[in-house]
Amino acid sequence: MDAERDVVVDIEDVTFSYRDSPAIENVTMRVYKGEFVAVMGPNGSGKTTLLRVIAGMVKPQKGRVSVKGVVGYMPQKEHVNYSMPVRVWDIVSMYLLAKKRSFSAMSGLSEEERDRVKRALEDVGMLDYANSPFTALSGGQQQRVLLARALAIKPDVLLLDEPFNGVDLPTQERIIELLSDLSKRGVTIITVVHNVSPMIHHVSRVALLNRKLIAFGKPEEVLTAENTLKAYGVVIPVTVCEEGFLHPLFGDIHG
Ligand SMILES: Nc1ncnc2c1ncn2[C@@H]1O[C@H](COP(=O)(O)OP(=O)(O)O)[C@@H](O)[C@H]1O
Ligand SMILES: [Mg+2]
Repeated sequence: MDAERDVVVDIEDVTFSYRDSPAIENVTMRVYKGEFVAVMGPNGSGKTTLLRVIAGMVKPQKGRVSVKGVVGYMPQKEHVNYSMPVRVWDIVSMYLLAKKRSFSAMSGLSEEERDRVKRALEDVGMLDYANSPFTALSGGQQQRVLLARALAIKPDVLLLDEPFNGVDLPTQERIIELLSDLSKRGVTIITVVHNVSPMIHHVSRVALLNRKLIAFGKPEEVLTAENTLKAYGVVIPVTVCEEGFLHPLFGDIHG
């Protein structure tokens, strides 16, 4: 990587433990502006923890984290539980409103902010559901709303935790295009995924995690038999598409 490029996320020798044993250990990674990074690894390998550390939601016991700019975070759907009948519009406005609270508790969104909420919902194809209760949506639709919420704050760094669980294939493709466009416009994307294949043409680097960072680099350098065996305990077979990209074949392996 070009040393002159802007480092946007700088993680140096980070260890974080919830209790005694570390969820991530001695992780060092530097992500540049406009990169599109896929984070992979088996269940419980620390992927969500890594995103939480980058988002500043938890503080590592050891190491240093620095992030430049506004961070948008789309949580893993399984970790979100809104039992209240909140409308889609309110979910997407939530962070914008939270940011304003210190200025004036009573002020709603400005016209420009309402526009942003609208555009974010449009981008994920959920504008028609703006007035629907969040709980009435399918799992995939809820994911898209959570993505819209992260987009609405105009992030410089966008963190996504398994954004495609329960999302149908056409929508998945649309979201991948959206993320790719954002990264081309300088937004840094870091996304946890089970299966990197659908986005492999857009990804700049893959981070393979199993508590420690096993490998971090170009997909074809990272997704080797040796590395996948280390991370998943099995070798993940790969195929090469017509355009020469390597596609791992995940089958039943879940991250
Ligand atoms: N809130 C928590 N309290 C205690 N342990 C946790 C908590 N969240 C995650 N862990 C543990 O930390 C490890 C990494 O979890 P996580 O980052 O969620 O992995 P992944 O997202 O890769 O499935 C797991 O062993 C998990 O059980
Ligand atoms: Mg997780």
